[in-house]
Amino acid sequence: METLSTFAYLISAICFIMALRGLSGPETARKGLIFGASGMGIAIVTTLIMSAHSWGLITLGILIGGSIGAVIAKKIEMTALPQLVAAFHSLVGLAAVFVAAAAFFNPAAYGIGALGDIHVGSLLEMALGLAIGAVTFTGSIIAWGKLQGVISGKPVVFPKQHMLNAALGAGLVFLIIMLCITQSPTFFWAIVLVAALLGILMIIPIGGADMPVIVSMLNSYSGWAAAGIGFTLQNNLLIITGALVGASGAILSYIMCKAMNRSFISVILGGFGAEVSSAGNADHGDRNAKIGSAEDAAFIMQNASKVIIVPGYGMAVAQAQHVVRELADKLKGEGVEVIYAIHPVAGRMPGHMNVLLAEANVPYDEVLELEDVNRDFAQADVAYVIGANDITNPSAKNDKTSPIYGMPILDVEKAKTVLFVKRSLGAGYAGIDNPLFYQDNTYMLLDDAKKMTENIVKAME
Ligand code: TAP
Repeated sequence: METLSTFAYLISAICFIMALRGLSGPETARKGLIFGASGMGIAIVTTLIMSAHSWGLITLGILIGGSIGAVIAKKIEMTALPQLVAAFHSLVGLAAVFVAAAAFFNPAAYGIGALGDIHVGSLLEMALGLAIGAVTFTGSIIAWGKLQGVISGKPVVFPKQHMLNAALGAGLVFLIIMLCITQSPTFFWAIVLVAALLGILMIIPIGGADMPVIVSMLNSYSGWAAAGIGFTLQNNLLIITGALVGASGAILSYIMCKAMNRSFISVILGGFGAEVSSAGNADHGDRNAKIGSAEDAAFIMQNASKVIIVPGYGMAVAQAQHVVRELADKLKGEGVEVIYAIHPVAGRMPGHMNVLLAEANVPYDEVLELEDVNRDFAQADVAYVIGANDITNPSAKNDKTSPIYGMPILDVEKAKTVLFVKRSLGAGYAGIDNPLFYQDNTYMLLDDAKKMTENIVKAME
C-alpha cells in the first residue's frame, strides 16, 4: 500500500511539473491546467485511501474549506484577484504554523520522537517551516491590506529599518538554534513572534507600485512554508509541490524585478520601494490636455498603416477586451496592421492582459511583450492606450523622484499619435501624474473603455 501511494504521489508530482511547463505559454496553458487538476485529483484520492481512519474529518474539512473557497471565487471581481491571492497565501503560512505546533506538542503522532525528545533533524525542518510560515502569514496580511486599501499603499519607512530587519533575521537564526538545543516551548513561541514581526516589517516599506513583485514573492514563501510542512508530515508530495511553488514564485519574482528594474535581493529582504521622495505628482502648469472624440479616433485609426493597442487595468475593469478585438478586426479588414503591446505588470496580476485577450480570442502572434514591441512604436501611426497609465508613464525614464523611476515602460509617446482611453486625467495605481496626457501628439478620449471603443467601432461604420 505504502509503495502504491508513493508511486501515485510521484505521478501527481510529475503532473504538477507538466502543469508548470504548460502554463509557461498561452497556447499550452489549457493543457497545463488539465495536468494540474489531474495531479491534484490523484493526490486527493491517494490521501483519502491512505487515511481511511479519518475520512470523516477530511471530508468535513474539504466541505467547509471548499464551500468557502467556491463562494469567494464566484463573488470575487477579477480586479480584486491580487488581494485574494495574498489573503490565500496568508492561510498557507498559518497552516504551516499550526502543523508545526501540532507536531511540536505531539511529536509521537508524526513519528518524529517524543515530547521534549524530538529528532534534531525533524526539529530543524519544523522550525524553518514555522518561521517561514509566520513570516508568510503576517506579510501576506499586510500585502492584502495594502492592495485592498485597508492600509495605506504608501511605503512606511523609518530610520535604521534595514538594520532592524537584519537584527530580527539574525535573532530568528539564534532562536531556531536554541529551539533545536533546548526543545523549549518558549523558543518555539518566540520564533512565531519574531517571524510574525519580521513579516510585517518586510512588507510595510513596499510602495504600491511595487506590490506585484511582493505578491509573487509571498507566493514563493508560501511554497517554501508548504515544503516545510511536507518535511514535518513526512509527505514527499507536499515537499515537491511546495518546492515547485517556492521555486516558480521566486523565478517569477526575479522576472518581474527585471521587468521593473528592481533589485531582487532588496525585494527578498523586504526593503525596496522605500526610497521614494515624493508621490511624483508633477505640476503640469498651464499645459492642457487635448480632448478627442470617438469620431476623431475612428478617423485617425482608419487612416493609419500601423496601430499598436496597449491594454491596461482599465480595460479589465471595463471588460472591454471583446470590443477591442472587434475594433482590431475592423481595422485589419481595412488593411491596417494591428498588434498588441503587453507590459509585464499591466493590470493587477501577472499575465492579466494575456488572459483577457485570450478570452477575446485575440491571436497569440499579435500579442507582443515589452522587449519585442518597444522598437515598433517609432514606426506606429497610432498607440491606442486603453485603460493603461503607469506602464506608459515617461517619468519612469526621466524623473528620479518618481516612485516608478527605473521601471521600463512602453514607449507609446514615440507613436505619431497617442490615443488615451480613460475616464479622467486622474492617476493610475502608483498615484502619479502622467505627463503624456499633455503631450502635443496625445488625444485624451475620456470615457469608459468599453463605451468609448464601442463608439469608435460605430463611428467607423
Ligand atoms: P494603472 O496605472 O493602474 O492605470 C489604469 C487606468 O485605468 C487608471 O488611470 C484609470 O483612469 C483607468 N480606468 C479605470 N477604470 C476604467 C474604465 N472603466 N474605463 C477606462 N479607464 C479606466 O494601470 P496599468 O497602466 O495597467 O499599470 C498597472 C499598475 O498596477 C502598475 O503601477 C503596476 O505596478 C500595478 N500593479 C500591477 C500588478 C501586476 S502583477 N500586473 C499587481 C498589482 C499592482 P481613470 O480613473 O481616469 O479612468
